[in-house]
Amino acid sequence: MWGGRFAEGASAIMTEMNASIPFDKRLWREDITASKAHVAMLGKQGIVEQADADAIARGLDQIMAEYEAGGVQEDLALEDIHMHVEHRLTEIIGPVAGRLHTARSRNDQVATDFRLWVRNACDEIDRALADFQAILVAKGERHAKDVMPGFTHLQSAQPVTLGHHFMAYYEMIRRDRSRFADARKRMNESPLGAAALAGTSFPTDRHATAKALGFDRPAANSLDAVSDRDFALDFLMAAAQCSLHLSRLAEEVVLWASQPFAFIKLPDQYSTGSSIMPQKRNPDAAELVRGHSGRIMGTMTALMVVMKGLPLAYSKDLQNDKIPVFEAYDLLAISILALGGTIEHAGFNTDRMRAASEAGFSTATDFADWLVRVGKIPFREAHHITGRAVKLAEDEGVALSELPLEVLQQIDNRIDASVFDVLTVDSSVASRTSYGGTAPVNVLAQVAEAKKALGL
Ligand code: ARG
Repeated sequence: MWGGRFAEGASAIMTEMNASIPFDKRLWREDITASKAHVAMLGKQGIVEQADADAIARGLDQIMAEYEAGGVQEDLALEDIHMHVEHRLTEIIGPVAGRLHTARSRNDQVATDFRLWVRNACDEIDRALADFQAILVAKGERHAKDVMPGFTHLQSAQPVTLGHHFMAYYEMIRRDRSRFADARKRMNESPLGAAALAGTSFPTDRHATAKALGFDRPAANSLDAVSDRDFALDFLMAAAQCSLHLSRLAEEVVLWASQPFAFIKLPDQYSTGSSIMPQKRNPDAAELVRGHSGRIMGTMTALMVVMKGLPLAYSKDLQNDKIPVFEAYDLLAISILALGGTIEHAGFNTDRMRAASEAGFSTATDFADWLVRVGKIPFREAHHITGRAVKLAEDEGVALSELPLEVLQQIDNRIDASVFDVLTVDSSVASRTSYGGTAPVNVLAQVAEAKKALGL
């Protein structure tokens, strides 16, 4: 390709290090698509003869069909996917293939291909997340009334419903989807035609190629277009945040599946046994999702550090942009599916959750709220009175609701029997009707909104 300038070939080490084809072959579809848009524009603008442009377009179609059928045959000497396509084009149509690279460089080419790939990755992840949300919403609806312990500090705090818990993750995923959507919108500018770094003297039409490739507009600055990778970083940041959410849910799956909790029974399809302990059913899928998130966050850091010291415009360092993005995409895509499958098929032991929700004086806040509402006692004082009741119950080894009324009245004589109505976990969750609260009616309302948003 640059034989004119060089007397000797590259060393084997250089060839191996320099070649990106082992990984950038994933860009073949985008590369051919962008080349087709480019050559159509070259023909239309009269930069190459229309007959030549047509021959090139036909050759590109053939290569697309070949790759579709049999994949890309790697040749390290041809460096990257761009050279592979051009080389094959030359084999098919002869020297006229050389006209394709008019008014373009691999620098704008790779930036364009990669943007197209990442844009599509945003769409794929969005679809997978929508399916995942549908699973959460179905569980949210089914378990809208099922009470479980709500925790702060992983200590029993107040009862909540399992449906409410699922819908919390629905909200996180909703924001994750909006982050991918933002990233997609921001990245949707075409680098094609920026050429090596300075633009070109040929009368190109960058608006036409941008439009043909579904971009909103051409990137406004050629130096920026070929050298920034913030679009990839936007994707990785969204992926890192999303994987963080998945990891928290995965952690809860691991915890809930452990015998002391026994809140869920893992589905066979998403767990493994042990080669030595016959009783085992391990939450491997959830653990891998939790572990994958660490690697996804690592990809974001990796690319940020690659980028941070690069002077404008293109440097070969930028070739290190692809592996982190491919890795993050692959890990995130499988994580969404695996965690979705785990949640969809797990058995939820709602009796056990309800019993656990009654432990730890979880309705103490309801007791204090009753004192405020019925006894007209200031909350701070009510908190103190309730604390004394909890201490007494704890000393006796009974639940708050099991303390005799006379004992409660010795603590404060404004207490009457109606306090017992608020001490059950059902009455507790039913009372939490503030907007966004855990009351079953609220959860069902949130589920209805979510179904509408998902088109279900
Ligand atoms: N394979 C390169 C990359 O992935 C693109 C080629 C640009 N090469 C160059 N020498 N300017 O970034």
